[in-house]
Amino acid sequence: MKSTLILNACVVNEGEQRTCDVLIKDGRIEAIANDLKHETADRVIDATGLHLLPGMIDDQVHFREPGLTHKGDIASESAAAVAGGITSYMEMPNVSPPTLNMDELEKKFARAAERSVANYSFYLGASNHNIDEIRAVDPTRVCGVKVFMGASTGNLLVDDPEALDLIFRDCPILIATHCEDSGMIDANAERISEQYGGDVPVEMHPVIRDVEACYASSSMAVALAKKHGSNLHVLHLTTEKELALFTAGDLAGKRITAEACVHHLWFSDRDYPERGNRIKCNPAVKAQSDRDAIREAVRNDVIDVIATDHAPHLLSEKEQPFMQAPAGLPLVEHALPMLLELYHQGVFTLEKVVQKACHNPAIRYQVANRGFIREGYAADLVLVDLNAEQQIQDGSVRYKCGWTPFAGERFRARICQTFVNGVAVFDGTQVIANTDAAQELRFER
Ligand code: DOR
Repeated sequence: MKSTLILNACVVNEGEQRTCDVLIKDGRIEAIANDLKHETADRVIDATGLHLLPGMIDDQVHFREPGLTHKGDIASESAAAVAGGITSYMEMPNVSPPTLNMDELEKKFARAAERSVANYSFYLGASNHNIDEIRAVDPTRVCGVKVFMGASTGNLLVDDPEALDLIFRDCPILIATHCEDSGMIDANAERISEQYGGDVPVEMHPVIRDVEACYASSSMAVALAKKHGSNLHVLHLTTEKELALFTAGDLAGKRITAEACVHHLWFSDRDYPERGNRIKCNPAVKAQSDRDAIREAVRNDVIDVIATDHAPHLLSEKEQPFMQAPAGLPLVEHALPMLLELYHQGVFTLEKVVQKACHNPAIRYQVANRGFIREGYAADLVLVDLNAEQQIQDGSVRYKCGWTPFAGERFRARICQTFVNGVAVFDGTQVIANTDAAQELRFER
């Protein structure tokens, strides 16, 4: 395998920035030092003026394979991910058939081994009836068990209180939850539908999927985790009210953690008139005050991880009336540039972006040997230019669905190069579809 020498990059890692050189050899970070320019390497990159980050580890994506591949697939969406500086992802079970047992999981691992450009792992889905599969899961291979405590895309709802209790009691690995109370949402939907007749506007999405539905479900998850001492990660928080359920502080000491997603950090209910169903997602984008509270919770470490919840749907599906349009947004290609734009806007420091999007997913999931720029670690790296503005447009995205919720936005940062296990899989313009580079994630548990 080729060696690469990156000279003069500003390395953002573990709470600091330092201009230095990085030598990559045999897929690993061989050396990090102030002066490596005399080392020999197959390829030398002068990274003066650029920043080098650990590749983002996205703990929540929907790549739609098997069964929903008209919306996206492992090859197309992992290519978009590396173009966005994401080097590892953990993929969700609401595909067709759903990933509810080891057979389906193994098929996904096999497909990814053939087609993925980024490193990968897959969640086992929970149902009302698969507790035995959950108990038997291999903690070193499966990133987590996904529990839909509220219905979303697909039909993976766990709504039997006894089944939920058993899952929280017996699950041997991290439980990742989607928290929204379906009963409350159904009641809201009925009330709002009556009010508007057949034609409910998209602005009603956060009224139907409201703060109280999120809070009721998240507080139930946290209560169950406290009761059983479970390892709980509540996905995509969207409301200020839920934040009180979580504690600030160092991730290392926590068993109950929270995630925020990039679209909830960017959009607010003020964007519905312009963006419409393109920002319809579950949980819903809520008030600006909620978005600002989520940003603050990232800063003060109540929220531990930033991910995408990349969930592509076709534009033709999105163009249906609000109540029929599916929820979910394609995000992996622009998530990191968007977070770097928030850095430019003074919302987050660069160190905070790296902590939440790169280090903390590795710590939270106990990912072996990734998530940091350290000697001996896998060379999953991303070189970014913080001052190369790009205008985001539907026409240039790599997603199979061919559109982006950020169309029209200007982001000041660009991804220049992405390395997966030392292999340059994106050169700033093109994804070099090298499916030999990607590896299955392993977990030190
Ligand atoms: O908006 C969403 N879309 N939220 C989810 O939980 C699922 C996702 C999807 O799979 O489309």
